[in-house]
Amino acid sequence: MTTPAPKSMDAIMALCKRRGFIYQASEIYGGINGFWDYGPLGAQMKKNLRDAWWQDMILSPCWGRKGPGGQRVHCVPLETCIIQHPKVWEASGHIAGFNDPMVDDKETKQRFRADQLSGLFPEPSIHSSLEQIRPQCTVIASTVGEAIELLSADKSLRKAAGVRAIGQSFPDAGVIEADFGTGMARWNVALVPMSLLRDHARDVPSPYTGKKGSLTEPRQFSLMFFTYTGAVLDEDNKVYLRPETAQGIFVQFKNVVDTSRVKVPFGIGNTGRSFRNEITPRNFTFRSREFEQAELEFFCHPSESQDWYAFWRDFRMDWWKAIGLAGDNLILREHEKDELSHYSIGTSDVEYRFPFTSPGFGELEGIAHRGCFDLTQHQQHSGVKQDYFDQERGDPLPNGSRKGERYLPHVIEPAAGLDRGALALICEGYTRDESRPSPEFLKLHPRIAPIKAAVFPLVNKDGMPEVAEKLHADLSRRFGHLGFIETDPKQSIGKRYARMDEAGCPFCFTIDGDTLTGQTVTLRDRDTGQQQRIAIDQAPAMLGEKLQR
Ligand code: GAP
Repeated sequence: MTTPAPKSMDAIMALCKRRGFIYQASEIYGGINGFWDYGPLGAQMKKNLRDAWWQDMILSPCWGRKGPGGQRVHCVPLETCIIQHPKVWEASGHIAGFNDPMVDDKETKQRFRADQLSGLFPEPSIHSSLEQIRPQCTVIASTVGEAIELLSADKSLRKAAGVRAIGQSFPDAGVIEADFGTGMARWNVALVPMSLLRDHARDVPSPYTGKKGSLTEPRQFSLMFFTYTGAVLDEDNKVYLRPETAQGIFVQFKNVVDTSRVKVPFGIGNTGRSFRNEITPRNFTFRSREFEQAELEFFCHPSESQDWYAFWRDFRMDWWKAIGLAGDNLILREHEKDELSHYSIGTSDVEYRFPFTSPGFGELEGIAHRGCFDLTQHQQHSGVKQDYFDQERGDPLPNGSRKGERYLPHVIEPAAGLDRGALALICEGYTRDESRPSPEFLKLHPRIAPIKAAVFPLVNKDGMPEVAEKLHADLSRRFGHLGFIETDPKQSIGKRYARMDEAGCPFCFTIDGDTLTGQTVTLRDRDTGQQQRIAIDQAPAMLGEKLQR
């Protein structure tokens, strides 16, 4: 199957700006790289996405689906601080491990990841046969193993090319081979001991100026933003902005167990802002420095963890489909062993084919089997026991109850990004159709659309505006908590429909001459442009039904 030509990201970004979905942060000062604000429609749309997540993960988890063995899926919410005790990040491994080796160009002041030096040399080309292979790129590493790690860790490279496996074929020759699915590619490996990297950096031409000698040696660069608490700005008062919402859940696990009527298996959800000082923020909101996550940590008995992992993986894929990402643009990709994070026993990514990743895919959400890594770490670092006493397990007792079992639960983590989710939904919904009054429109799912409906008088006279106002007030009272209900008496009706289409509004009610005589209105569908006539007193019930789908 051939992949259709990607949609224009420029056009999508222009629409986002024009209709108030997404603005550059601090735009009047020239913007700030990696930060984005949501305008009126974007803010409401993102709230709808967050609410849909909250509804389907916490309040009515998995649409009432039963878990493995017919178990109920039970989840509770939590709201935790952006700033936590620094030891949280020591225990989680973020302070030690959330780093990228960086190289600076002293002349241009550009900074880039050392492992991306490979990408700055000619791109690895894809060859159809082994004989044609030519070494194309250089990776700087102190061992071949490290070079393989660097290439493996370079997700964008792997994903863009759809890399299937990277293996060490000719260690002596310093060459790495990769199977791209469609052919093979090779990289030269410059084996440079860390101590000699300074010398080596001097020999490598700057990718920006082409000159040798302007690159610094690679230096570790933490992705964690930090600040200080209190008046004294010293190391003792250094604190971090969270890079993920997950750890807030782990450190409150005991409190939730002790103060609410939860029993393993159960989940704790947390949504909110996370911060990563990404070296190369890019692709609109896809890789930002401040972004919003919606994470669930689902605690279960170790013996059931694989089943719960499969359960959550399937549900999360179905969920994204249900809110509008169905089709070939959405895939579930199981990580290969060498790609797993240090804590993970298994991870699958829900990936979307964004216009800027096409024909490859970009991660929307990761579903990770984290084992008992986090609870173990926090138990060790805090000295506070994190184990769980399960009264329903262990040997049966004569009185019919059970002896109980003490264990550290295993954790399945569906970790979604709301900004990437919103962006995927906008990209998927963005449609061009030159035959329509507005050639660009947004097919947003009614649950996600920021404007739920519009009520228009066909003309701004003859009693129509008054009827429209009344219906608008009625619909706003009933559905205003879900999103905007618009009304607009001015301009031609075609122009008003076009404006709503472009903003992703799924339904328009129009009051016309027949409304006044027959108590009916037209209901127009955004995607087909078709209209049906319905009784005006049926309008609220019909809209309610359509918004639930
Ligand atoms: N607790 C696990 C965790 O944070 P992750 O894959 O690093 O896992 C989860 O992040 C999700 O957060 C990603 O799938 C993505 O949607 C979103 N995300 C991560 N970094 C992001 C960034 N720099 N900009 C926007 N979204 C990001």
